[in-house]
Amino acid sequence: CRFGVCLGGMDIERVDTRNSAAVWYELLRAAHPVDTPEDPPPCRDDAVGQLVHPRSDRESLLFAARAEGTPLGAYLLQRSLLENTDTACFELVVHPAHRRRGVGRALIEHLAGQAKALGCTRLVAEVEDPLGEDGPGSRFATALGFTPVLRERRRRLDLAAVDPGEHERLLAAARERSAGYTTVCWRDYAPEEHAADYAYLFGRLSADAPMDDLAWEPERYDIERIRTLERHILLRGFRSYAAAARHDATGRLVGVTRISLPGCHRHFAYQEETLVLPEHRGRRLGLRLKIENLLWARRHEPELRLIDTWNADSNDWMVAINERLGFRELRRSAEWEKRL
Ligand code: ACO
Repeated sequence: CRFGVCLGGMDIERVDTRNSAAVWYELLRAAHPVDTPEDPPPCRDDAVGQLVHPRSDRESLLFAARAEGTPLGAYLLQRSLLENTDTACFELVVHPAHRRRGVGRALIEHLAGQAKALGCTRLVAEVEDPLGEDGPGSRFATALGFTPVLRERRRRLDLAAVDPGEHERLLAAARERSAGYTTVCWRDYAPEEHAADYAYLFGRLSADAPMDDLAWEPERYDIERIRTLERHILLRGFRSYAAAARHDATGRLVGVTRISLPGCHRHFAYQEETLVLPEHRGRRLGLRLKIENLLWARRHEPELRLIDTWNADSNDWMVAINERLGFRELRRSAEWEKRL
């Protein structure tokens, strides 16, 4: 018996992610039909790619619990090396065939030890729940002493359910309200002449997006760091489409939005970060950029149909835009924190 539970010789060991990262993908793949059958399955390139090609601004550690060689569960600890260095962000999954036997609890205890050894003072993870009730993740998190600090909702846009004329009408009105701005679109890498502005906007997001009770030190991005991130996203197999608003009077980018498609899917994408600088808000630039980017992505991805996004419940502005675009609630989600 180890870690306070008898699990028939279970061991928790660090995984050499350069050679054995597939265990993470196999666990995600096993959990998918049980936990989120309504979602497209995870992509191998994404799950393995993030481990084989780690970001240089982060530390990533994968630990797996095994009994007689069989993987029971694993956690992936990620810590930024530049800011919020006191925070161990993590994902945890236990194989559905081995749940409710204390594997999750043992992995969290092990994670807490690893995080402390890195000098971290808190653990943070995102947990998703069905809309109406608490799911296993949040019940487990509560039992393990975590508290929710940022409540969010995951929404899904089904393009087949949207009247195509509606987006056109919204876009025409938004363009009228935002004269004096030009849309610049790109794939994967921001054009060289806009890379510095894009890096600044990207960093601003962590300062401007509502964080509720999650204390979060703003992230600073320069050209080198944004290029590292863009490369990392590509190495995980994603195809990215971005649209930015250029303020014609100054030539500067003042807003941006991005859609990304996981490598193994043609019909499914994530609506990623969107930001408009405060002094340029109130002109429907956010709505305009999102629709223009959707059109841009669909030119290259004709099979695109489902798009998922996450917003803080307190982010009234972004939620209102998404609802107007046709995004509908799919699940609740939250960031959970545990002080060590
Ligand atoms: N319903 C109610 N309570 C639960 C459940 C559940 N389905 N699962 C765990 N708990 C609570 C119980 O209090 C349990 O103690 P008990 O069995 O003595 O009653 C306690 O959590 C510890 O349970 P474990 O057996 O250690 O947890 P398990 O190995 O089953 O793993 C986990 C739980 C990680 C949530 C698993 O269901 C899973 O992989 N889910 C999908 C991924 C996920 O949701 N990850 C988020 C984890 S939470 C976080 O990261 C902060």
